[in-house]
Amino acid sequence: MTILIEQPHQIGIEAEEKNALIDEKELAWDGDFLVPQTNSFGHTFRDYEVEGERQPGVENFYRINHLNQTFDFVKKMRQEYSKLNRMEMSIWECCELLNDVVDESDPDLDEPQIEHLLQTAEAIRRDYPNEDWLHLTGLIHDLGKVLLLPSFGGLPQWAVVGDTYPVGCAFNDSIVHHKYFKENPDYYNPAYNTKYGVYSKRCGLENVLMSWGHDDYMYLVAKENHSTLPSAALFIIRYHSFYALHSSGEYRHLMNEEDFENLKWLHVFNKYDLYSKSKVRVDVEKVKPYYLSLIKKYFPAKLKW
Ligand SMILES: [Fe+2]
Ligand SMILES: [Fe+2]
Repeated sequence: MTILIEQPHQIGIEAEEKNALIDEKELAWDGDFLVPQTNSFGHTFRDYEVEGERQPGVENFYRINHLNQTFDFVKKMRQEYSKLNRMEMSIWECCELLNDVVDESDPDLDEPQIEHLLQTAEAIRRDYPNEDWLHLTGLIHDLGKVLLLPSFGGLPQWAVVGDTYPVGCAFNDSIVHHKYFKENPDYYNPAYNTKYGVYSKRCGLENVLMSWGHDDYMYLVAKENHSTLPSAALFIIRYHSFYALHSSGEYRHLMNEEDFENLKWLHVFNKYDLYSKSKVRVDVEKVKPYYLSLIKKYFPAKLKW
C-alpha cells in the first residue's frame, strides 16, 4: 500500500505537517470515514511531479497564474468583487450551484464540488463533534469557486483556483512552480520585490493582499454579509490555499498574534481538505438538515454575492 506522507517530491508538505498527517492515518480504521491512500487518479496527494492525466495542464496553469497575479490585478479584482452585486442566494443554494464546477488546478480531485464540500465537513464533524463552526467552514470553504461560472464573471481557472500567496512583496521560493514568477512584472518592481515590499513587520495577514481566487472572494462574501463565524473560520476560508504559509511555514514575518492562533486551526482544517478528496460518498439528503441548521446559526437567510 502506498504511504503518501513519505513521497519525497510532495510539494509544500514540511516536517510539521508530516507529523500531523501521520496522526491522521489513525482515521483510516476508525468510524465510517476512510482516509484514502490515493486520489481519484490513483496517485498520492498534491503530487505535481507525477505524470498524470492532469499534469501538463497543472504546470501550464501555474505559469499563467504566476505571470498574471500582480499587485494591481489583485487590487482591481478585490474592488470589483467587494461590490457583491451579482446575485442573492443562500449558502445552500450556492453549494448546489457549485455542483458542476471542476477545479483544473487540483491534481487530486475529479468529482463534483459538493461531494468534496460534504466529505470535508463530515470528516471534521466526526473528529471535532463540538466545533460546529468548523463543520460549516468545511462546507463553505470552496464556495468562492462560483467565480468560474458565467453569472459571476466566468473568470479563468488561474484567477479562481490553485495555491495562493501574497502580492506586493517578494514571491517566496517555496511557492509551487516559483520559476514562472520571472514572467510577472512585479518580480522586477523594487516596490514589490523585497521581503516586506509594501508591508511592515508583523503587520497582520489581514493587511496583506493575497493572489486573487476563490479563497479571498468567499472571505469577502462571509465578512460583508456579517457572518457570525469566529475569526478562525474566516482565516481558514481566506488562507486555505496559502500552502507557503500553512505547509512550508513561510511569511511568518507578516503575521500578528491573532494570525498565529488562527493558524493552529488552519493546520487542523487542512488535513481534512486534502484527505477528504476521495471516492467516499456522502448521502447529501441525510446530512442536509444538520448543515441547514448551521447555516441558519451563522449566516443570514440570503447573502449578497
Ligand atoms: Fe479551496
Ligand atoms: Fe477544498
